[in-house]
Amino acid sequence: MSILKIARMGHPILRAIAAPVDDPMSPEICQLIRDMMETCEDAGGAGLAAPQVHVPLRVVLFKVPLERLTGREHDIAIDLSVVINPVITPLSDERELGWEGCLSVPGLRGAVRRWTRIHYAGLDQHGEPIDRIAEGFHARVIQHECDHLDGYLYPQRMEDLSLLGFVEETLRHPVSLRPEASSGVRP
Ligand code: NI
Repeated sequence: MSILKIARMGHPILRAIAAPVDDPMSPEICQLIRDMMETCEDAGGAGLAAPQVHVPLRVVLFKVPLERLTGREHDIAIDLSVVINPVITPLSDERELGWEGCLSVPGLRGAVRRWTRIHYAGLDQHGEPIDRIAEGFHARVIQHECDHLDGYLYPQRMEDLSLLGFVEETLRHPVSLRPEASSGVRP
């Protein structure tokens, strides 16, 4: 296993559209997933997409830590989980603001509006189908990671760049996101 180098904002791989994986069970993909898991754990991230480690393929992994749960039915704690060729469908018009960070944008975080409730499908690392409903942080992290596959970083999704800041400063000077738009994520 290897810890891979993470591309940072400004690297063109982060703006590229990633290609679908043809054979999720190939040795190369199995190795990529093992390395991405080790890299994500080492970096302390909640998720990682293959383009972030300079591989332009549609592979993401994520976890839903207990401390980020919003109490919604489909927001459950999930250990590091893999989705290959993910496809997202919003299940309502409702979107909410919540804080996000990204291993490719180190030191910063920003408030991003995301779909509150989504369906997503894809394959896991064993080639088995995934078919899930997600809400809250679970829905947020999936949308964030899948955006990487289409060349988007979270600042490009922000509507109010005054809510982009250094993590330390935003923790020192908390901004309350509007209650009706709050994700319930602790700032
Ligand atoms: Ni990211």
